[in-house]
Amino acid sequence: MHILILGATSAIAHAFAKRYAKEGDHVFTLMGRNQQSLNACASELSALGNNVIYPIVVDFMNPSDIIHAINESIQIGGSIDIAVLAQGSLSDQEKAKKDFQYLHDEFMLNAMSMIIPAQYIANHYKKNNSGILIGIGSVAGERGRKGNYAYGSAKSAVHTFLSGIRNDIGNEHIRIMTIKPGFVATPMTSHLKQSPLFVKPDFIAKEIIRGIEQGQDVMYIPSYWRIIMMIIRALPEKIFMKLNI
Ligand SMILES: NC(=O)c1ccc[n+]([C@@H]2O[C@H](COP(=O)([O-])OP(=O)(O)OC[C@H]3O[C@@H](n4cnc5c(N)ncnc54)[C@H](OP(=O)(O)O)[C@@H]3O)[C@@H](O)[C@H]2O)c1
Repeated sequence: MHILILGATSAIAHAFAKRYAKEGDHVFTLMGRNQQSLNACASELSALGNNVIYPIVVDFMNPSDIIHAINESIQIGGSIDIAVLAQGSLSDQEKAKKDFQYLHDEFMLNAMSMIIPAQYIANHYKKNNSGILIGIGSVAGERGRKGNYAYGSAKSAVHTFLSGIRNDIGNEHIRIMTIKPGFVATPMTSHLKQSPLFVKPDFIAKEIIRGIEQGQDVMYIPSYWRIIMMIIRALPEKIFMKLNI
């Protein structure tokens, strides 16, 4: 299989890649912003099995760079079988209220840098009538909260866009998956106080693979977040405004 991963240095994406790398006989294209960290990921994956691995440096702020890199990956590895969109940054909400270039850049990264490749890869899948696209969203995208709506609104955009692609071209051969993790212990959340709600990146990876095998489309991981978010979404605005969550 040809597995393309954007944001391949992410702890969640790397855990996912490692599970496939152990099987061997796959081609991986790993995209990220930093050559050294991509190379480190590539060597770790190489050590796990007999795979072909190509790291490609991409500027996620530049749509044509993203498209160029995806084309390069198709030229190198052939048609894409599985694509994972994993880049992202847990925006500093207070900073985003005052620094509008920062707000812009964070939204570009968390929304546009996912949406653009999602559409391009979807078009590629449509031509082949085959492929799995996995977008990492977040439970934060379910309702705007005062502590993280810069990040959350970008994730909402990703959820809605993926839902639209799924509605447009999804079928039993073209699978568009939206992953909504809760708290995951990764570099992105290392500054947050850890709690029993935190899970390990490999748990997310294992669950995504279970979702692929079972034909799931929208996954809350762990699954109890589906109930939590159902309650949070159902709260009337007047009550929600008074909560400090
Ligand atoms: N951790 C959580 O609790 C959690 C919960 C829900 C959803 N998610 C989502 O899961 C995905 C993976 O995150 P993670 O938890 O695995 O975090 P992570 O290990 O910190 O990975 C973040 C990834 O985003 C890249 N990145 C960050 N800022 C960037 C920028 N300005 N330009 C380009 N690339 C940038 C990082 O690249 P470098 O390695 O070069 O820094 C890395 O590949 C993200 O989309 C995140 O929003 C995470």
